[in-house]
Amino acid sequence: MLAAPIKLRRAVHALVVGALCGALAAPVSGHDVITTKVTFDREIVRLFQDHCISCHRKGGTAFALTTWEEARPWAKAIGEEVLRRRMPPWGAVKGFGDFRNDVALTPEQLELVVDWEEGGAPEGDEKDLPKVPSPASTKAAFGSLRHGAGEVLVSGELRLAKPLLLDGLWPKSVPAGASYQITAELPDGSVEPLLWLENYRREFDHPFLLRKPLALPAGTWIHGVGAGAGVQLLPAKARRAAK
Ligand code: HEC
Repeated sequence: MLAAPIKLRRAVHALVVGALCGALAAPVSGHDVITTKVTFDREIVRLFQDHCISCHRKGGTAFALTTWEEARPWAKAIGEEVLRRRMPPWGAVKGFGDFRNDVALTPEQLELVVDWEEGGAPEGDEKDLPKVPSPASTKAAFGSLRHGAGEVLVSGELRLAKPLLLDGLWPKSVPAGASYQITAELPDGSVEPLLWLENYRREFDHPFLLRKPLALPAGTWIHGVGAGAGVQLLPAKARRAAK
């Protein structure tokens, strides 16, 4: 039981010496060399509010990214996830259906995040923080949508008894890992792509809102949803202010 304290003391010693050397070598910035003008408190926090913290916050489906202290340890992973386009997750095949709430980062936003990460992930100046604190905008990414009246639950093949002006789809109970190519077969025989869920995960839960409402006449078949699963068809009429 002697070895541990000695090791510990050595480690502490190394830390202290390391910190001193670091301080000598870079007296201004401490241990991180900052090579970017992009800061968390100015650009990154705003971008995260719009694209990440609907999930990444206290009480959300993933660890919080609302402050610099929370985000800093994840900086490297953040750079990687956005570069590989794994975050923010969409959960569906792009180009199948056309959605207005796709929160994918633009190339400029992606560059901003990567610049910040590679430049030492600086905090910046607290005075640059948005005036509205983050909780108010946590709903921004996917709107303040709630399930409402007039929705049609699709489970397995379904034939619409009444016409429906479709505003979007919202997976409700879909098994983890499921992939469904959901289409509408109209009475005139034409087929409309609706949504291609890919490798579904409940943690990524969100509605898919159509860019333009789609008129589905009575008699339309909805194909592709698994028999044991549930996907809501959201009617345009009852559209709840998404933002
Ligand atoms: C729809 C919800 C959602 C959104 C929006 C979202 N994330 Fe995530 N993110 C998650 C979940 C859930 C996990 C945990 C993933 C897992 O277990 O694989 C995760 C994991 C991560 C990880 C860790 C990956 C690893 O190394 O394991 C990083 C980094 C990350 N997200 C960054 C971001 C950033 C940056 C944004 C915004 C640009 C973002 N996320 C938007 C849900 C989301």
